Amino acid sequence: MSENPSIKETLDFEERIVLSEWSHRNCSVAEYQKMHGDSLAKFENFWASIANELEWFKPFEKVLEPGEYPNVYKWFVGGRLNLSYLCLDRHVKTHRKNKIAIIWEGEPAKSSNEPLEVRQISYYELWRLVNRVAYLMRHKLGLKKGDRIALYMPMIPELPVLMLAAARLGVIFTQVFSGFSSEALSARVNDLGARYLFTTDGYYRRGNIIRTKDIADKAIKDCPTVEKIVVIRRIGLTDINIDNNRDVFFDELLKDVPYNVYVEPEQLESTDALYVIYTSGTTGKPKGIIRDTGGYAVILNATMKWIFDITDEDIYWCTADIGWVTGHSYIVFGPLMSGATTLIFEGAPDYPEPDRWWSIIERYGVTIFYTSPTAVRAFMRLSPDYVKKHDLSTIRLIHSVGEPINPSAWKWLFELIGNKRCPVGSTWWMTETGGILISHTPGLKLVPLKPGTNGPPLPGIEVEVLDEEGKPVKSGVKGYLVIKKPWPGMPGPPTGMWGEPERYNEVYFSRFGYFFTGDYAIKDNDGYVWVLGRSDEVLKVAGHRIGTYELESTLVAHPYVAEAAVVGVPDEIKGEVPIAYVVLKTGVNPGPNIQTELKKWIREKIGAIADPKNIFVVSRLPKTRSGKIMRRVVKALALGKPVGDITTLEDESAVEEIKAAYEALAKELEAAKKT
Ligand code: WT7
Repeated sequence: MSENPSIKETLDFEERIVLSEWSHRNCSVAEYQKMHGDSLAKFENFWASIANELEWFKPFEKVLEPGEYPNVYKWFVGGRLNLSYLCLDRHVKTHRKNKIAIIWEGEPAKSSNEPLEVRQISYYELWRLVNRVAYLMRHKLGLKKGDRIALYMPMIPELPVLMLAAARLGVIFTQVFSGFSSEALSARVNDLGARYLFTTDGYYRRGNIIRTKDIADKAIKDCPTVEKIVVIRRIGLTDINIDNNRDVFFDELLKDVPYNVYVEPEQLESTDALYVIYTSGTTGKPKGIIRDTGGYAVILNATMKWIFDITDEDIYWCTADIGWVTGHSYIVFGPLMSGATTLIFEGAPDYPEPDRWWSIIERYGVTIFYTSPTAVRAFMRLSPDYVKKHDLSTIRLIHSVGEPINPSAWKWLFELIGNKRCPVGSTWWMTETGGILISHTPGLKLVPLKPGTNGPPLPGIEVEVLDEEGKPVKSGVKGYLVIKKPWPGMPGPPTGMWGEPERYNEVYFSRFGYFFTGDYAIKDNDGYVWVLGRSDEVLKVAGHRIGTYELESTLVAHPYVAEAAVVGVPDEIKGEVPIAYVVLKTGVNPGPNIQTELKKWIREKIGAIADPKNIFVVSRLPKTRSGKIMRRVVKALALGKPVGDITTLEDESAVEEIKAAYEALAKELEAAKKT
């Protein structure tokens, strides 16, 4: 973090803000605490009553039951439902039939003479299309419940359509972020054993065409389970490689599917898997988190109301990419289940002009805005005039997600975007949780806003902050954040992590016996949680999770590299960025471009999001006598901080070298500042 959101600093900041805007909401911490206490005391009844707000094909018989593997739970056992039904069929029977479900805006051309590409899809149209695509999947591709598919899709309406069509059939999908490389893609496709890979010819970003099909072609060489690539023509590229035995065009498959087909939504078990989403951890291999159907639907439905205060009048915009869990939950399934209008945009926040986002808010009259601190910090560097020239008065509620929000970013959202009228929250959750678990709850109108905090745990959610020994710390003391009780939306049956029940248990439950989030946090006297950042070897780069070990193992896989140490250092915009130190193999002569070569290697193996800020070649890394890399020392050195106790260090010259690398870089940055 550029500004550490220390509790003291942010509290002082709070005192400076007049919170009268909120007082009309009858806020009371005591009232909230009572309600929260009651929800935990009657835990199962509480969640049953929330779950009963949904429409079930068959009511559940039991709220919660242990699964076959340790720490895997079954929620709403015996209940049957379908998310495509809840997102579509339910609404088309009501006044929402002709309401806009999705507003989509393609990336604008640089020259303003070209018309903007916009699609506004009503609930009825979306329902029709999803039925046709579900039909296509079932009858032309032979997909059935329990089969797996992979989506490598950019931000176009076909992505939610594919997700909803798969959900309709009970086909388990994994959506791989379109910025991932071919190798990251094939690793995920193989882990899941996907039968089909859906992708586009390409998509637009910052005026360029990203050729997704080329990347998919490369990935698929190592994917024996994939029968076909289904290509959605986003651009109409004529020069993509087409293998007639393996590739099919989506529009050609869809062409003769009648407009009025109806595919009965599968009556899925609450415990059936909806999707698998891969996320980084502390080892090299990404973790495939299984998402159930019933628990997930319940947490999304509840949080859309409690946190986003969603109503029929809202134009709701979450600026994430659908490739991340934020997009799965709060662009697609959550808002559509609520019958809201959800906005999707293709492209980048600052292209063709740095005011693209504010222009979107103005043009569509966005009322609820869900974004990230990283995006805010990037905008803060630019002139506020980009914001001020647009009318943002429709906005009534703002939340952020992905990392702690630093005071100046909070203030910027509150003052400049919300014009001091709107609550600004920082919703805490993670890929594993499925939905938001710690947040202010404007929809419940009960909790006073405390800037910079995540807020109290939601009703029905019990969290605790523990010390090393697993004992709860006092309020105001930093410790490890755990979730004490199971929650709807948690990693689902059968194994929590796809194919890896032992790893699921080891990663999350072995340390404290409760679900360990990996985060440091503080609980204050009001029971508000302040998540401070990761306590493990996971970095949050621009809000995205990158495991240092994942980067290190990618680096040592390069033919020149013998050893690597990767640490995170603060970055003004991205919050944190990786820096790598590598030791080359003896005898190799890499030439002067080794850094560029290694950066390129990482882009190929993982994707641009993992690109280290710097890669330093050193002759040795600080190690203990038993040969373990002393990451603590590397990290201190990378930050230009004192290294502390290094009596266990094998060779002190390693320290000097990294120190020198740091100093050289600091000098370089200083010089760059002056020019
Ligand atoms: C990690 C999870 C699911 C949201 C997108 C990120 C950090 C997330 C906050 C917040 C402080 C936050 C935590 C968490 N995080 N939201 N509001 N305040 N930290 O999902 O990639 O699975 O990352 O993001 O460190 O563990 P993710």
